[in-house]
Amino acid sequence: MRKDLLKLLDLTGEEIIEILDVADKLKAEQKAGIKHDFPQGKTLAMIFEKNSTRTRVSFETGIYQLGGHGIFLSSSESQLGRGEPIADTARVLSRYCDCIMIRTFGQDRVEELAKYATIPVINGLTDLAHPCQVLADLQTIREHKGKLAGLKACYIGDGNNMANSIIVGCMKVGMDVAIACPKAYAPDKMILDFAETVTDCTFTMTEDVIEAAKGADVIFTDVWSSMGMESEKKQREQDFAGYQINAEVMAAANEGCMVMHCLPAHRGEEITADVFEAHADEIFDEAENRLHAQKAVMYILMKNMEK
Ligand code: CP
Ligand code: NVA
Repeated sequence: MRKDLLKLLDLTGEEIIEILDVADKLKAEQKAGIKHDFPQGKTLAMIFEKNSTRTRVSFETGIYQLGGHGIFLSSSESQLGRGEPIADTARVLSRYCDCIMIRTFGQDRVEELAKYATIPVINGLTDLAHPCQVLADLQTIREHKGKLAGLKACYIGDGNNMANSIIVGCMKVGMDVAIACPKAYAPDKMILDFAETVTDCTFTMTEDVIEAAKGADVIFTDVWSSMGMESEKKQREQDFAGYQINAEVMAAANEGCMVMHCLPAHRGEEITADVFEAHADEIFDEAENRLHAQKAVMYILMKNMEK
């Protein structure tokens, strides 16, 4: 694998499967109380320019379980919030730390950080992509279904960072993908262009939620208003009405269809409380797997640096 994890588009399907295999191994070791085979004392800098619960706790716990240490840097409390260039931050952190995780707005900021950092950079969410989340999602689906290739994934809602990463992650491992979203909220053009190039599985996009859900083995959704879009909340509530995982949608899917939600969830908006609770075990397995999938990413990227 390369130096960084910036977006799933940069990885091959084989590299994604390798991460999932390492994630399964690290998860099994942790559950069995077996010490991981990883050099001690590595430091992860964690830059947060947006809020987080899962990403922060799973990365900080993950590096600790690998025998290292996490350092939390919020934009408001670090010099980043006072305008220090990301390129300078990259070169400074590279002198102290072994890896950087960043959650921010534009993907260009993450790419710039990685360009100037001599240590691995991991995207912990941008407006374009949420690769760590989708790696955890794929790990969860494989655990529950025993396979990935040949399954059908459906995503209902905003064509946002989650939709973008789901399309790429699922298609790279051979899953068919159907997206239901309003026309004005389609996924990123670069992602749609990618989907057109894939030949071993299918991609469809529609405004018809039931059509997209037909025959699905896993249905994803995400919030109608992502972080940074708070001012559009009222408009989005109108535009996304009906783009919801509910009993009718689940009835159109295959028997045993899973539900994935990256969380936090807004019951009564993108998912009903009943469907959420009926699939809570899957959704919280998915949340747990953030820890294991990210440990795998850190494990692979930091071990690569030692070669
Ligand atoms: N799913 C996810 O990334 O959660 P946080 O925003 O809490 O990190
Ligand atoms: N699409 C959401 C995901 C949160 C984990 C956001 O960007 O806010």
